[in-house]
Amino acid sequence: MTATPEPYDTIECDVLVVGAGGAGMRAAIAASDAGCSVTVVSKSLLGKAHTVMAEGGIAAGIGNVDPEDSWEVHFADTMLGGQLLNNWRMVELYAHEVIDRVLELERWGGIFDRTADGLIMQRAFGAHSWKRLAHVGDRTGLELIRTCQDKMVHTEGVDVRMEYTLTALLKSGDRVCGAFGYNRNTGAFVAFKAGAVVLASGGWGRMYRYTSNSWECSGDGAAMAYQAGADLLDMEFVQFHPTGMIWPPGARGILVTEAVRGEGGLLFNAEGTRFMLDYDPVKKELSSRDVVARSIYKEVQAGRGTPHGGAYLDVRHLGADYVKRKLPSMYEQFHALASIDITQQPMEVGPTIHYTMGGVRVEPETAATTVPGLYAAGEVAGGLHGANRLGGNSLGDILVFGRRAGEAAAEFSKSSGTVRVIDDSQIAAEQADLLEPLGGDSNGAAPSENPYKLHEDLQLAMQDDAGIGRSEQSLQRALAAILALRERSTHIRVSGGRTLNPGWQTVRDVTNMLVLSEAIVRGAIERRESRGSQWRFDHLEQEVEFGKINFVTRRGDDGMQVVSIPLDPLPDRLRPLLERSRFYDPAKLPKGYLTETAPVTRTTRKKK
Ligand code: FUM
Repeated sequence: MTATPEPYDTIECDVLVVGAGGAGMRAAIAASDAGCSVTVVSKSLLGKAHTVMAEGGIAAGIGNVDPEDSWEVHFADTMLGGQLLNNWRMVELYAHEVIDRVLELERWGGIFDRTADGLIMQRAFGAHSWKRLAHVGDRTGLELIRTCQDKMVHTEGVDVRMEYTLTALLKSGDRVCGAFGYNRNTGAFVAFKAGAVVLASGGWGRMYRYTSNSWECSGDGAAMAYQAGADLLDMEFVQFHPTGMIWPPGARGILVTEAVRGEGGLLFNAEGTRFMLDYDPVKKELSSRDVVARSIYKEVQAGRGTPHGGAYLDVRHLGADYVKRKLPSMYEQFHALASIDITQQPMEVGPTIHYTMGGVRVEPETAATTVPGLYAAGEVAGGLHGANRLGGNSLGDILVFGRRAGEAAAEFSKSSGTVRVIDDSQIAAEQADLLEPLGGDSNGAAPSENPYKLHEDLQLAMQDDAGIGRSEQSLQRALAAILALRERSTHIRVSGGRTLNPGWQTVRDVTNMLVLSEAIVRGAIERRESRGSQWRFDHLEQEVEFGKINFVTRRGDDGMQVVSIPLDPLPDRLRPLLERSRFYDPAKLPKGYLTETAPVTRTTRKKK
């Protein structure tokens, strides 16, 4: 017998976009331009998204400052930075198209710092060969959001719903046909019926204790995709941004933009040594994020950390006027939160969880996931960044693949007809699951659990045992903790009702974070090597075999499965591009398919 659901509202559209950061808004604009009605659902308020935490700029090989730059060099840097685990076709599309997307943003009214000739200014960033990041001070993500928001709200056919929580994707047979959730302000259940769904819901840093992510980043989109049968890719790769605030405690984890180092900021240990000269004498402070984060960690472990356990980041030599002009947010942030004038005193910084390279597996051209009708773009998707993302490549990613996802979802929706049937038994089951924690005690079988306490325990387990450095032993400990927390989560109970109830909200956030934490840890256990952001104390080297595979996590009959799939090696036509990176060194290629085949042939580097 089919269970009867409680009453729920229905909202229908051609394309449903989950998330209102840069990727979601760019997808919505594209789907609307393709003639579709679009609903954008935001967990938060419009304009508040993790996109703003990409402060330093958008990486694009425009060559305004360094004419040697091009999409080809950007391609090479991104592949090498990702340790060649990237989906090369995604990187190719990205490096090509991001140039147009930045110029489009400018046409839409985006403000950028300018060169003396009035061109978009570009700055240096970690492991980019040339000055490549189009920026406005240290507020580029915010400007991207404002520009896309202005464009989207003036785009016909886009309806925005704020402060909704989505908890499940709805399916009709194999196909995704909408999503279910609730309006946090009223508590009303809502079913969104759609011809196609674009996930643009961002990452999941909140399962770590110290993170630049805000409360929304619990991975709802990726967890819903997993539950709906989609593949997740390379979940073990989680990015520690090298520079988060570490003091005072309330500010710990807040981002200190890489633009500080891009503008010439220097890192010192407590003994006054500029330690990056030892760890990476070529790129120094502008080494890739994985290397800089590990270097700070090693300095602290060696007893050379600052009083609060980090490194000093110093911009005093740049001059107060320059600092205030190019890094105004950092100046204000340290002044307001730490009572520090960064033009007079060094900042204390340390690694903070910032980004998830892993994500929903997508097809490069269309951002289609492995489930028909479901698309994913931006941080929620995997593949572009490989084992380590270069700074500035996230803002470009959301523009390039947000647009592609929106267009492809619109096509799918148009071809899938207008009759959209929702299965009430799915809705009834989801409602029952959502309502269970609101009722009474926990069946009397076990003490009731508090979702906030579970979240705190999860953060401790992930930070300590699946953090910047990992080992088989620590990862097994983390896995055991996650499984125990999952069992405890079946006894979660919260007081209050469905209206504006943050406790109730936290229940689903924690459940989602538990799923994704398990995926991170299981992937990290399988990858018995160190590569990119995955640093295994018990396997310090890269292994050739692991350079030829990606890991896929999917839901199996017996729970979570992690399987390896062969990587599609770089085609011959793209191999010579690698040497255009200033950081290309044939003797130090990431181990994998390239180190087993003919070396890249040297050609003369082309001048523009
Ligand atoms: O440091 C930053 O401004 C962050 C940029 C990014 O993550 O792309």
